[in-house]
Amino acid sequence: MIRPIVLWGSEVLEQPAEPITNVSDAEIKLVQDMIETMYKAPGVGLAAPQVGVSKRLMVTDTTSGEKKDYLFTILNPEIVVAEGEQYEEEGCLSIPGFSAPVLRPKKVVLQGVDLNGKEIVLEGSDLLARAFCHEIDHLDGKLFLDHLSFIKRDMFKRRIKKLIRQGKWE
Ligand code: NI
Repeated sequence: MIRPIVLWGSEVLEQPAEPITNVSDAEIKLVQDMIETMYKAPGVGLAAPQVGVSKRLMVTDTTSGEKKDYLFTILNPEIVVAEGEQYEEEGCLSIPGFSAPVLRPKKVVLQGVDLNGKEIVLEGSDLLARAFCHEIDHLDGKLFLDHLSFIKRDMFKRRIKKLIRQGKWE
């Protein structure tokens, strides 16, 4: 089931999400829905707060479903190693129509658990590292806008607020 994506301005995007202590049918359904929603958007990653659920859960697929074995579902993810730098254009499904270059590590190692409660360690570089960092940011109540300069962030927020006033933010 495709779930509506929560847009900038919603409180759930600004709150740190709760760790997952137990995987029930609700979490399994949530993951299925998040994957479907991510592919439909289309996007390369989605965090639970983006569908209005404040839990530490994220999915990524930097191939948008085109290649096998690139779909990752991670619960309670944490970055344990970050190396190097990359500065590339970044957007967000919760901030449609906006993008900006964001500084991220070139390579990260991420630790978390899968839906079976098994510990997983994933390594990602370039776009995958960027996706991991971006989605973990969501779980910490942060958006890519928070990485921009004050002036640029303020400009983006004004433009979004204008769209909200015009009823064009949906
Ligand atoms: Ni995002």
